[in-house]
Amino acid sequence: MSVRSGVPVTRGNQLNVAVVGAGYVGLVTSACLAELGHRVICLEIDRDRLNELQSGRLPIYEPSLEDLVLGNVESGRLSFAGDYAEALAHAAFAFICVPTPPLDNGHADTRHVITAARGAVEHGAIGLTVVIKSTVPVGTGDHIAHLAVYRARADVCVVSNPEFLRQGTAVRDFFQPDRIVIGTKDHEAGRGVAELYSGVSAPVVETSRRSAEMAKYASNALLATRISFMNEIAALCDATGANVDEVARIVGMDERIGPHFLRAGLGWGGSCFPKDVLALASMAALHGRRAPILDAVMATNDGQREVALQRILDAVAGIDDPRVTLLGLAFKPDTDDLRGSPAIDIIGRLSTHGIDVRAHDPVTIPNAARLLPGIGYRTDAYEAVEGADVVLLATEWDEYLHLDWRRIRAAMRGDTVIDGRNVLNEAHLRRLGFRYVAFGRGGQDWHELVEMDEHRTTSQRGRRPGRNAANRVPVADSAA
Ligand code: UDX
Repeated sequence: MSVRSGVPVTRGNQLNVAVVGAGYVGLVTSACLAELGHRVICLEIDRDRLNELQSGRLPIYEPSLEDLVLGNVESGRLSFAGDYAEALAHAAFAFICVPTPPLDNGHADTRHVITAARGAVEHGAIGLTVVIKSTVPVGTGDHIAHLAVYRARADVCVVSNPEFLRQGTAVRDFFQPDRIVIGTKDHEAGRGVAELYSGVSAPVVETSRRSAEMAKYASNALLATRISFMNEIAALCDATGANVDEVARIVGMDERIGPHFLRAGLGWGGSCFPKDVLALASMAALHGRRAPILDAVMATNDGQREVALQRILDAVAGIDDPRVTLLGLAFKPDTDDLRGSPAIDIIGRLSTHGIDVRAHDPVTIPNAARLLPGIGYRTDAYEAVEGADVVLLATEWDEYLHLDWRRIRAAMRGDTVIDGRNVLNEAHLRRLGFRYVAFGRGGQDWHELVEMDEHRTTSQRGRRPGRNAANRVPVADSAA
């Protein structure tokens, strides 16, 4: 038993593993398999990235991953290589962890996966098991299996083993997964892959390659659906005076529903949800099926960004040379990833309206500056809000939950705070004189009506007036 980064691990038999791709999934998979005791060679064909890794630098930010990579490199269980022959020479397993970006028509581009699988088949030893971690359209595993047979490698087994790693908690997700999915009808090959995870305690689900591939898409699409659904409810809450945080809490207490992925706000982004929901909808079209739910889920998500833009435009209407500050650029906290980030999208939309934008993010400013030059980036949140007419909280970094809003109020020119993640303490901000705007927390007009109503009721009862109905039930994730 070893413990690193708070992750308890029991080491089993040492097996030789090649991991193709040192991107986000490949690096996490390599480091975690090495931590489980296996001898792992991670193959990266991008020379710059490989050099970086070989000199001990990580190209991505992921909590506790650096320790895990460096520790396993030091122990000799993890190394990096630049070609298939070296990485595959002794490998019993080849994990395919390369990206499947969207094509213009929305389909997942599987070219990298096919190239990687071909490389593995060509250089792998007899009895190699190709394990597909990349998210691929249903049937890709079967296609690769045919490809191996075509190349006279009928000894190669292909297993679908989708990843469910969330950025920011990927290492924990690897060691404490809800399930390990093994997609193959070759029981022997499936047992071999399951054995690689023998230090991890989780239910192992054996299924067909196709069901495993579909399960990955269905999981991400359902999570995105929950969020879009709650965003639709949030809009109704704004229209009717209900509070979506409280609604989500009540709804989530139903065991059949559960509390996760019900947070309303700017909507979902990232490297997976947007491409996977789109790829699933495209897969449906390819098979002559309609996918109206998926279409609506994407449209609602896009609509959240437009709502945020409109709220900003309303707040700066009539102001000369308006300035807007975004707090947070990453698509979610604890990652430096900007892919699919609502913040980046909103900045793009603001720029077309000629609005001066400033932005702060605790880790991802260098990436953002490359992607969107011309924005006033600040490494200090208080500096970023100076002279702002509107502040939009776009990513719920922990740092933002502990800001001194009195100081921010004094630094801003205007008074509007748009809480894009429903995480700020509304009552506190209102007391400080902010015009607080959120997603489904009742809306400005309703807030005032509820307050007046409350005032009337409490005065009649002779109790201390001024308590705000919205604050009676504390919202778990509010922060000052
Ligand atoms: C996702 C899946 O969760 C993971 O299993 C898969 O393997 C990769 O894709 P990730 O993209 O890292 O992981 O982020 P996740 O934590 O799932 O969040 C996705 C997006 O949804 C983020 O933009 C987040 O801000 C948003 N979100 C999440 C909400 O808007 N509301 C919620 O309640 C939860």
